[in-house]
Amino acid sequence: MILIIPVLYEGCSSSKKNTSNTSSLKEAYKNYFLIGTALNIAQIEEKDPRAAALVPQQFSAITPENIMKSALIHPGWDRYDFDMADKIVAYGNKYNIRVNGHTLIWHSQLPAFMRNMKDADSVKQFFTNHINTVAGRYDGKVFSWDVVNEALEEDGSLRKSVFSEKLGSDFVTEAFRLAQKAAPHTELYYNDYNIEQPKKRAGAIALIKKIQAAGIRIDGVGIQGHWRASNIPLKEIENSILEFSALGIKVMFTELDLGVLPNPWDSDAADVNLKAVYSEKMNPYAKGLPDSVQTKFTKGYEDLFKLFLKYKDKIGRITFWGVNDGQSWLNDWPIRGRTNYPLLFDREFNPKPAYYKVVALAGK
Ligand code: XIL
Repeated sequence: MILIIPVLYEGCSSSKKNTSNTSSLKEAYKNYFLIGTALNIAQIEEKDPRAAALVPQQFSAITPENIMKSALIHPGWDRYDFDMADKIVAYGNKYNIRVNGHTLIWHSQLPAFMRNMKDADSVKQFFTNHINTVAGRYDGKVFSWDVVNEALEEDGSLRKSVFSEKLGSDFVTEAFRLAQKAAPHTELYYNDYNIEQPKKRAGAIALIKKIQAAGIRIDGVGIQGHWRASNIPLKEIENSILEFSALGIKVMFTELDLGVLPNPWDSDAADVNLKAVYSEKMNPYAKGLPDSVQTKFTKGYEDLFKLFLKYKDKIGRITFWGVNDGQSWLNDWPIRGRTNYPLLFDREFNPKPAYYKVVALAGK
């Protein structure tokens, strides 16, 4: 496919500066940490020319938003569908972008045949086959794996799930044991939301220490980072960077977005299974974002990236959960059909004021 990049930005007014010759996130941060984005199917297949031009220009890491989750990559007991996963690996090779595999063991987005599995032996077989097959196929082809996603409750205890109930409390350690064997050339991470919060963080630290005590490799921890722009837990994020890195592992922020819409429960729990009903009151910026909110949003990214830069020697990667605002999952979660503005690029792929702030900070 031939891309005519300059055309993409034609018609941009001077106030909406484009990024074609001005700056790049990955360049600005290249001496500090990787800057990533999540890609959907159309983006992996380069179907949207604007995303196809922007992603290699701006990002040094990619995570598949959905296609490596077990429901999609392992749809039947003996059936795997590697088509899209192979494509994202090829995409990474083509543009020299690191791929983070997301995710091997997670209680959500499970294949239908797994969801109501009662027999513990069958769960064990699924667990073992899945990790061996998927992690084995992409060993050294993906740079890293989120080996286990979201195994903890908010109070730091182990989440009740098909895995903890059928395999017992060692299942996280076992997942890393299998992944280490199947993927000796790939970094292995534990990933979760809200693990910057003290109780859940303590649970994550205990989990990581248990893996390490068993003599099994864990290379990093991913803090998802689905925060509200008005409520970023900066102090807890700082404490988390310090405490997690003290375990001798890298810290990653793996799914960063700063929502500007009200949360029905006034919470930051990014549980994909939560749902609430739509009302206009819950969708206040359908016609555009007021300047006052945009300013707070920009300040939120500024505060965060100042902190990330302070600890650049402990941070491996910052990944945004999506390329532009229009493609963010936060338009449909936890309420369908809202208009959110959580990322650095707007619906037309134009960089927002927060983008320029983040790039400028790296040069200071
Ligand atoms: C989300 C995707 O963005 C959506 O497209 C999908 O419908 C649900 O999952 N935590 C995670 C991600 O680890 O995998 C989730 O991604 C967002 C929350």
